[in-house]
Amino acid sequence: MKKKFRAALISVAFLGGPIASGTVYSGPLLKALGVSTEADAIRYYQTIDPNNQRLTQDAWRQVNGFNDPANEVIVVGGHKNTSDLGFWRRIEMVIDKRPGYVGNVAMTTFNFANEQDAFVNQNALSIVNMEYSPGPNGDRITKFYIYNANGNRENGTIFDPDLTKAENLYLPNGCASCHGGGKNFATSGGKTGGGFLAFDFNVFEYGTLTSRAANEANVKKLNQGVRMTNPPSAVKSLISGLYGGNSLPLATQNSAYRPSDWDSEPALWNVVVTDCLGCHTLSEKEVLSLDYWKINVGDFREKVLKKKLMPNSPYANRRFFNTDPNQAPTNHRQIVEDALNRFRP
Ligand code: HEC
Ligand code: HEC
Repeated sequence: MKKKFRAALISVAFLGGPIASGTVYSGPLLKALGVSTEADAIRYYQTIDPNNQRLTQDAWRQVNGFNDPANEVIVVGGHKNTSDLGFWRRIEMVIDKRPGYVGNVAMTTFNFANEQDAFVNQNALSIVNMEYSPGPNGDRITKFYIYNANGNRENGTIFDPDLTKAENLYLPNGCASCHGGGKNFATSGGKTGGGFLAFDFNVFEYGTLTSRAANEANVKKLNQGVRMTNPPSAVKSLISGLYGGNSLPLATQNSAYRPSDWDSEPALWNVVVTDCLGCHTLSEKEVLSLDYWKINVGDFREKVLKKKLMPNSPYANRRFFNTDPNQAPTNHRQIVEDALNRFRP
């Protein structure tokens, strides 16, 4: 794993090509699993949508049964994800019930600059979609798509609400640092190794137009949808933990959920929840194990405190290192440093 990470960074250092002119190079952030070029994105779409059935957002919705009376469209909108993107969001999901499509799950996520836009669903900065459906080899795989506000398909997009710093990143690796991936889709039947992430209210923030209470029921449905996409164990156990067990008995999330091995480090666990968990249920799941922190103090010092490569998204990184005038200062960096000092062998 370590080797792969270094190799990815080295390849980033020599790339320069894939970065579109007019965009600002934001360094190694969001590139921990490598960088895709525009040509990669085009080849990716040819692999997962060979007949060009999803060239627009409307067509994508049609293919995924959003307009079919057999299906219910679940909508969750008007929250800000504070963990790693900092966008205001709206998410719509279909768990397909049409004969012949049962087993498919599709989610479309609209990213907005502010609460009002997210609440009324206008002026989306980007639309990012995921679909769990049969791939070129017939088995169900997770597919990633990008559309713009006009509904046209895009090869890349930005992942930072600070538009002066945002950089265009291309499919599929543009999604990989958070959603996992990095596999060669061309030789893996369209699979990147990436998947669906859990929805955790710990990283949702609300303004004045809607509330957590208004969203609890549908967020649970989204998490049930995520469980149908064959997610890795860390995603499953996070969802089970948040809802009180494997059969998800709780109607509302238990935001105080903490895996028992973290009971001795509650402050550090809270940092992990806001700053690391979003990505590390799919990539490098070991980061969620306290033992892994204790055994790899040097690695954590190097990657987090010294090289500042983690948190690997611009928004979360600026919060962690207190360099964002738009986010209140936190003591997260200090908590990590103190913990690593205690764990030092
Ligand atoms: C935006 C997504 C993202 C966020 C946020 C993030 N990471 Fe990572 N991190 C990654 C990815 C992707 C890798 C794996 C790269 C690879 O395959 O080697 C990684 C790798 C690491 C590694 C190296 C593991 C190894 O064995 O080499 C450490 C340590 C780490 N992260 C710690 C953290 C900590 C601590 C936080 C929170 C303070 C955090 N990360 C937040 C995406 C993220
Ligand atoms: C900086 C991290 C990050 C990047 C990069 C990212 N996402 Fe996400 N995405 C998330 C998080 C975290 C969630 C979980 C839901 C939430 O908290 O709102 C999510 C949720 C989603 C969902 C809802 C289904 C799910 O996984 O829960 C879709 C669809 C989605 N993302 C698509 C994409 C696509 C397509 C890309 C690449 C073009 C992408 N995302 C890149 C962080 C990211």
